[in-house]
Amino acid sequence: MSYGNPCLRHKIVLLPGDGIGSEVTNAAVQVMKTVAENFNVTLKFEERLIGGCSYEKFGTPLTDETLQACYDSDAVFLGAVGGPKWEALPHQLKPEAALLKLRKALGLYTNIRPAKIYNALINSSTLKKEVLQGTDFIVLRELTGGIYFGNPRGFDKERGWNTMEYTREEVERIARMAFKIAQGRRKKVVSVDKANVLEVSQFWRNIVHEVHKDYPDVELSDMYVDNAAMQIVRNPKQFDVILTSNLFGDILSDIAGMITGSLGMLPSASIGNKYALYEPVHGSAPDIAGQSKANPLAAISSVAMMFNYSFQMQKAAEVIEEAVERTLAKSYRTQDIYSDGCSLVTTQQMTNCVIENFNEIFNEQALGVFTL
Ligand code: IPM
Ligand code: MG
Repeated sequence: MSYGNPCLRHKIVLLPGDGIGSEVTNAAVQVMKTVAENFNVTLKFEERLIGGCSYEKFGTPLTDETLQACYDSDAVFLGAVGGPKWEALPHQLKPEAALLKLRKALGLYTNIRPAKIYNALINSSTLKKEVLQGTDFIVLRELTGGIYFGNPRGFDKERGWNTMEYTREEVERIARMAFKIAQGRRKKVVSVDKANVLEVSQFWRNIVHEVHKDYPDVELSDMYVDNAAMQIVRNPKQFDVILTSNLFGDILSDIAGMITGSLGMLPSASIGNKYALYEPVHGSAPDIAGQSKANPLAAISSVAMMFNYSFQMQKAAEVIEEAVERTLAKSYRTQDIYSDGCSLVTTQQMTNCVIENFNEIFNEQALGVFTL
């Protein structure tokens, strides 16, 4: 029996980056290959340097060749960038600068970070089980505008300055995305801003409400960012889609990440009109790099997002997600999510278990009929 369309070929650029980036990318690729075999699609991989390792080799964290490879891709998968070795470099040479440049150059204005609770991990969060149970929301972060990219910017001996600016077009397109995504979920958008203090936030709020007129089936409310930070911890169940700007989304997505137990579990998708990039939210974790201790599940869930958003293979995405859940239910744990009585496993053992479960689920479901 064969599923999918064998004519489908996707070119994926792999950017493992620094620290544990290569270990989790390696895990992700194994899962991509498993999907390709089972769903009968052809994936072509091209690997490039980014971040600190690129700086070491080429004197820049992002070369034109790497960027061009991304322009020629159907999807980009990134591991992680950064490390203490490169922290003292000037701004534009830091590994993080490569990530920001890539987001801007590829026009990846929508960043999707789901905060989902895995039942098996409900006790690894610092929050109470009752507070968490049933939490399922996404932080939808504007990714190519706001204070991250505004000019003027700089500092001298006496002063430092940045500019938070949004254009109508920038707010409109991310707002539309939020309402569309909400339509496929519980139809609730909370737009987070600081309109009581910042003019740019008042502008953001006005535009979001204008766009909302086109999506009357979605419920829209506004929340100040300080309150939102508190509400995510107080009662995370109230949220469905949190729509917010670049800086606020950076902060809120880390809070949202931690309530789920470990940043090592969180996937992300960054999407534009033409390109898309998938990456685990966690960083390069230089302290555990090269020791096979990294949790590959965020990377693997990012692969699920890739099949879902870039290749419209929702079934494949679902099977990956279920395979991750089964792996956790079987008590496989890397050290970041370890608790007493579980099996402490390496990055590769965890990956093997996900792949075994993937095949198991695929075979179970293949008894019925399913399509891409
Ligand atoms: C993130 C990170 C990045 C950001 C850094 C590494 C530039 O914190 O993706 O959330 O601030 O956007
Ligand atoms: Mg961040």
